[in-house]
Amino acid sequence: MSVNNSANKILEEIYEIKKRLGKKLLILTHHYQTDQIVSLGSFAGDSFDLSQKAASDKEAEFIIFCGVHFMAESAAILSASNQTVQIPEISAGCPMADMADIQSVKKAFSQLEAIVGTKTTTPIVYMNSSALIKAFCGKNKGLVCTSSNADKAFDYALKRREKIFFFPDEHLGKNAADKLGIAPELVILWDSNKKLGGYKAEDIKKAKVIVWNGYCPIHIDFTTSQILKARRDFPEAKIIVHPECQREVVKISDASGSTAYIIEYVKNAAKNSIIFIGTEINLIKRLARRHPDKKIIPLYASGCKDMFKINLKNLLKTLKKPGAYNLITIPDEIKKDAKKALDRMLTLT
Ligand code: 13P
Ligand code: SF4
Repeated sequence: MSVNNSANKILEEIYEIKKRLGKKLLILTHHYQTDQIVSLGSFAGDSFDLSQKAASDKEAEFIIFCGVHFMAESAAILSASNQTVQIPEISAGCPMADMADIQSVKKAFSQLEAIVGTKTTTPIVYMNSSALIKAFCGKNKGLVCTSSNADKAFDYALKRREKIFFFPDEHLGKNAADKLGIAPELVILWDSNKKLGGYKAEDIKKAKVIVWNGYCPIHIDFTTSQILKARRDFPEAKIIVHPECQREVVKISDASGSTAYIIEYVKNAAKNSIIFIGTEINLIKRLARRHPDKKIIPLYASGCKDMFKINLKNLLKTLKKPGAYNLITIPDEIKKDAKKALDRMLTLT
C-alpha cells in the first residue's frame, strides 16, 4: 500500500471513531502539533486554554491529549472522576519539565526557608512540570502559571508574600519579573547543583524573585543577532517571540506572548506585514500557510521533537482503545494538592 493510501485508511478509521463517539470524545491539540493532528482535534489551544477546556468540558468521557506529557497530566488533574485522559505517545515529554525534579525542588525550598523564614516565599511552578511538583506548590500556598499569565501569577504572589521561588524556566521567570518592573538585581538564578544555589545568605535575603536554572532547548536557540539581522534585512518587519526566549531576546522584540497570543498577533496584523517569529517551527509554518497575504518568517527553524511524536498512527491506536491505552493516571493525594495549584491559576484575572 502506498504511503498516501495507508494515511487515508488511518484517516477514515479516525473519522469513523470520532463519529461513533461523538461528544463522548474530546481531542485536545496543542498549537505545536502538525496541521493534520490539529485538524483532527476538537479544540486547539495554548497550555492555558487547554487546561481550561479540560476543566470545563463535562460532556466528554474520553479526553485524548495531543501534546506533551505534562499537558496531559494537567488535564488529568483537572478532569472529573468519570473522565479519562490518554496521550497517543507516552514518551512525548518536555526536556525543560525534566530539569526540575521534586527532590531538588523540595531541598532548595527548605534551604531558602531556613534563611528567609517560613511563609515568606510563594512557590510558583510553570505548567511545564510534573504533577508531583504542582502538588508541592499546591501544598505550600503556591500556584501554577503558563506563559500567558506568569506576570499575573507573580503579581498574585507578591500581594501575599515577600518573595517568589519560580521553576523550572529561568527565562519565563526573568521575563515575568521584567513585565512587573522588578529590578533585575532583585532576581537571582538558583543553581540547583550548588549549595544555597550558589549564593551567600545575605544575597538570598535581598532577592525578591529566585528562578531555577531550567530552559527550553527550542527557545534558547533564538538570539539577539538573529533579530538584528532580521531588522537589517527588513527594517519594517515586526518581531514576536515566545517568553521562554532569553530576556535579551524578549527585550528587543516588538512583542512576546504565548502560542495563542502569537496566533492572534499575526491574525490582527495588517495585510502585507512582515513578521519574524521566534517559537516552534510547526506553528510558524502553519501561520505562514494560513496568512498568505502576510510575510511570516521564522527567526530561526527550531522544532520540538517531543511534540512531533504524536502522529496519525499513534492517535488511531489510542482512539481504538478509549479509556484504556496510554492512560494518564494521577494518585488521589497528588491530584488533590496539584489541583489546588492549578485552580489558583485558573482564578487569576
Ligand atoms: P504555550 O503555553 O504558549 O502554548 O507554550 C507551551 C510550551 O511548551 C511552549 O514551549
Ligand atoms: Fe518543552 Fe520546549 Fe517542547 Fe515546549 S517547546 S514542550 S518547553 S521542550
